[in-house]
Amino acid sequence: MYRIIETQELAPTITRLTVEAPLVAKKRKAGNFVIVRATPTGERIPLTIVDSDPEKGTIVLIVQAIGKTTHIISELRAGYHFEDVVGPLGEPTPVSEFGTVVCIGGGVGTAVIYPIARALKAAGNRVISIVGARNRELIILEDEMAAVSDKLIVTTDDGSYGKKGFVTDALQEIIDVQGKPDAVYAIGPFPMMRAVADVTREPDIRTWVSLNPIMMDGTGMCGACRVSVGGELKFACVDGPEFDAHQVNFDELIARNQTYAGPEQKALETWKNRVETTDCRQL
Ligand code: NAD
Ligand code: FES
Repeated sequence: MYRIIETQELAPTITRLTVEAPLVAKKRKAGNFVIVRATPTGERIPLTIVDSDPEKGTIVLIVQAIGKTTHIISELRAGYHFEDVVGPLGEPTPVSEFGTVVCIGGGVGTAVIYPIARALKAAGNRVISIVGARNRELIILEDEMAAVSDKLIVTTDDGSYGKKGFVTDALQEIIDVQGKPDAVYAIGPFPMMRAVADVTREPDIRTWVSLNPIMMDGTGMCGACRVSVGGELKFACVDGPEFDAHQVNFDELIARNQTYAGPEQKALETWKNRVETTDCRQL
């Protein structure tokens, strides 16, 4: 049993949870994730470890309520517990002293880029971060990202805060004005990561993205998370989650991730219809 110590709503539909998981807290590195189950019969969900406190034995997870299970997790409060927390999983982020690194977080992907930006800064890099969201109220971890960056640029699609436009507009401006950075890390929705790869391909800037395809066991056994990278079959859970952005077959990835869109939508609707009369933990 993994007790939830604290929860906080960071933005509409985005919740931060502090969870007791002492062994995970002791071993995790930037880029690792866990697979959680909220209930004994629940779906297994991969979530990046955003932060940890080995002394207190806690980890921090951030979840966006998109489907049924993420809605259930978002409604858990301090005192509840996760049935399982398995991890740390995945290869840690390749962190070196590159020079100038641009770290890009799109929407809730900012939760995933934050520990990476922090590790890159600690390794001696000059970190320029770009955090983007559709509007002001969906910007998360702005203070945390500012604290681990030499410069932070905020963008919103609607211009309600920071620069108006996509994160890729800010990246292009950095390249045009300051010249090529030594590396780029980009995490967010697939179209965003593909667009970042398109921006950095021609100037030949090494670029990593973190992939979150459908996952089940998280140990390389089930094959659910397979992705094509450089024409080779890779499993995001054990070979990744980070890969060379210029080698990822995003078209295939986006198509595969739509496989269960219909059943997922149906499960969410059924859950929403029942949740008003039942404890969400019973659903
Ligand atoms: P969103 O769709 O609101 O986009 C966030 C930002 O990404 C936008 O503000 C924009 O700056 C940029 N962006 C989006 N589409 C773009 C495009 N075509 N070109 C250039 N920039 C673009 O983001 P959201 O709703 O917070 O994202 C949710 C998605 O992110 C989910 O699908 C989730 O699976 C994914 N996600 C991925 C990871 C990961 O590890 N890869 C982690 C968390 C969430
Ligand atoms: Fe099963 Fe990666 S989740 S192989």
